[in-house]
Amino acid sequence: MIAELFNQLARSRRSVFPDQFEAGKKVDDAIIKEILTNATWAPNHGKTEPWQFTVFSGEGLNKLAAFQSELYKELAGDSFKELTYTKLQQNPLKASHIVAIGMKRTTNKNIPEVEDIEAVACAVQNMYLSVTAYGLGGYWTTGGVTYKEEAKSFFGLGELDKLLGFFYIGYIAIPSKGATRLPLEEKVNWIKE
Ligand SMILES: Cc1cc2nc3c(=O)[nH]c(=O)nc-3n(C[C@H](O)[C@H](O)[C@H](O)COP(=O)(O)O)c2cc1C
Repeated sequence: MIAELFNQLARSRRSVFPDQFEAGKKVDDAIIKEILTNATWAPNHGKTEPWQFTVFSGEGLNKLAAFQSELYKELAGDSFKELTYTKLQQNPLKASHIVAIGMKRTTNKNIPEVEDIEAVACAVQNMYLSVTAYGLGGYWTTGGVTYKEEAKSFFGLGELDKLLGFFYIGYIAIPSKGATRLPLEEKVNWIKE
């Protein structure tokens, strides 16, 4: 029975984008803590527990919006796009909470960097599944200043650490639809003998 429920949960999980969120409706911090606790139960090699989350809500969302739009403006040079700047300034305000997803690197355990990144990705999938279970919407964005060295310190990340993006969370006003996946046969080879 739990397997059937989980099949349904995993397959109905969808990315829900900021314009689909219910404006102004806030998620209780207690639910956000449950979502993040589930994130920290993700598998990780060598017990590095490499995730480091910074949660923005309330006035914090304004701070994040100002930080990322101004840093984008500062670094964009000739590739500056007004639309990107405006989105970086306005999108955070459409969410209830935004989790900045950090990878804190452990170097003394002989675990390859990619495995710390993979562990954080597993943590983010736990967030995705958790918001789905709570009837909330969310999505992982790697846009804006995600991979900029200059962004790291704002999120408490050091030189060897990585900012892996942002997980937006909000109540759903407009559900996502139209998701498809390729047939399983195209993605799986079975070797039986
Ligand atoms: C590592 C990663 C980075 C992503 N970055 C973005 C992004 O920058 N902008 C965006 O709109 N969606 C982003 N997404 C969400 C994808 O667009 C989304 O997962 C995809 O459209 C499939 O839809 P689904 O999540 O509903 O299955 C990202 C997803 C992953 C796994």
